[in-house]
Amino acid sequence: MKLSNTPFLPLRRWLALAGAAVALAAPSIASAQGELTVYCTVQEEWCRPMVAAFEKTTGIKVSMTRKSSGEFYAQIKAESANPRGDVWWGGTGDPHLQAAEEGLTDPYVSKTSLDSLQDWAVRQARSAQFRTVGIYAGALGFSYNADELKKRKLPEPKCWADLVKPIYKDEIQVANPNSSGTSYTMLATMVQIMGEDKAFAWMKALHKNVNQYTKSGAAPARAVATGESLIGITFQHDAVVQALGGAPVKIVSPCEGTGYEIGSMSIIKGAKNLANARKWYDWALTPEAQAIGATAGVSYQVPSNKKATVPAAAPKLSEIKLIDYNFAKYGSSAERKRLLAKWDAEVGNQPK
Ligand code: F6P
Repeated sequence: MKLSNTPFLPLRRWLALAGAAVALAAPSIASAQGELTVYCTVQEEWCRPMVAAFEKTTGIKVSMTRKSSGEFYAQIKAESANPRGDVWWGGTGDPHLQAAEEGLTDPYVSKTSLDSLQDWAVRQARSAQFRTVGIYAGALGFSYNADELKKRKLPEPKCWADLVKPIYKDEIQVANPNSSGTSYTMLATMVQIMGEDKAFAWMKALHKNVNQYTKSGAAPARAVATGESLIGITFQHDAVVQALGGAPVKIVSPCEGTGYEIGSMSIIKGAKNLANARKWYDWALTPEAQAIGATAGVSYQVPSNKKATVPAAAPKLSEIKLIDYNFAKYGSSAERKRLLAKWDAEVGNQPK
């Protein structure tokens, strides 16, 4: 009786084929757990230990790229017909909210209980119908190189208003708000503190003092540490990294008050590795995962899990004059687009 249509094969060939079939059915442990593509928007030094810890915990193989907040927002939008990323971890909340509003990210209520998170992190999630969630917070400010300031016999800048004084011509570095979430936070903060007209007048005056608009938000803090720039506008925690590294960096909480970020995380709509993206999301909200940056000495934000240790060096948000930043408004698609277009036309594209 004929059992199959398989033509006769010598025994050795059968064994070789069977071996190949077993190999296909039983891949290595890492690939058995599958893969994950993470778009990472914190500092590369923090992205790397996060990825290593996740791979170790889950056996999932991660491919990671680091870009700034505005850059990844634009990339995720451009890729929306054929998404290449699975989870977008880190970066300021505004572009995450914009992506949520535009349906570029997927709703997900994490298995890590919302009760374990700070109110600001949960508010962020609720306002985006769970298409994003807060993972850390940090206040905006600026830093200066104390040695260079002394050498040049310049006064210590204490307020946002000081930064537009002609004595600081070409002495200030800040990122471009199109690529950088940090810089967009500055733009939105100024509009909220001063009102739009005065804020744009301030940014035009600042333009004269800016020596370079960087792509990444934290870069000006590094430039201050090396003395390449006298002053840098960044999140305060990014200047803490430099000060702890031994640079003569002084951090300023501006006298008028300042804005802050709710660093966020979102799952990309159409993620090819959705189950693994959810695993990352759940894990990244645990106290253990949120301790990794501070333990590695590379991040000093306030973590969103209430049980995660707040690094001793993290700027104390309760001691900083924070504005009541309107995330719903400044993270809305229309407002972010409008303000960035206005900044390009009236500030960025203007001669100095
Ligand atoms: O990792 C440092 C950090 O300042 C984060 O706190 C913030 O979310 C992110 O960088 C913003 O980066 P960028 O301004 O380059 O978008």
